[in-house]
Amino acid sequence: MADKIRVLLTEEEVNARVSEVAAQISRDYEGKNLHLICILKGGVFFTCELAKRLTIPVTLDFMSVSSYGSGTVSSGVVRIIKDLDEPLEGREVVIVEDIIDSGRTLAYLIEVLKQRNPAGIRLCTLLDKPERRVKKQVKVDYTCFSIPDEFVVGYGLDYDQKYRNLPYIGVIEQ
Ligand code: IMP
Ligand code: MG
Repeated sequence: MADKIRVLLTEEEVNARVSEVAAQISRDYEGKNLHLICILKGGVFFTCELAKRLTIPVTLDFMSVSSYGSGTVSSGVVRIIKDLDEPLEGREVVIVEDIIDSGRTLAYLIEVLKQRNPAGIRLCTLLDKPERRVKKQVKVDYTCFSIPDEFVVGYGLDYDQKYRNLPYIGVIEQ
């Protein structure tokens, strides 16, 4: 049976906010080249929408990580499934994530990527669930939306690999 999905953020609301954040990033990196790192798979839709709206020169790279653990809880032990193609040395980097939940994935990833000597490294997320944060040291530089503690799908986010292609963000009704 198909799951019933309640719309939390419409496609129009998301796209309008992505445009605002893209304008902010374009201002902050004026005169610089920006290297975006998309965290697969969830970050892919957001990365594309964001990148299209940036007015500064942009390069893209992709990384796929998996946190050990089952279901909807991440364990904090992160495995790199696909590493970046290019070095980060001297580059202005922005990591683009779908959602920051406990913060465990990003806490680990930022430490790994800092060791590659980028000029700077910032974090941009489509969604943030601040109530769920375990790793308080994870500083999010750009957040499109802070949301309550509900499991969301769409715009890249999945439930059991499904619903990534929904153009809006929704909550699966129990
Ligand atoms: P963290 O390490 O707990 O911050 O987990 C972040 C990852 O968990 C995200 O990149 C998502 O893949 C996944 N995740 C966390 N919350 C949700 C949700 O509400 N819907 C879909 N995926 C989620
Ligand atoms: Mg996921």
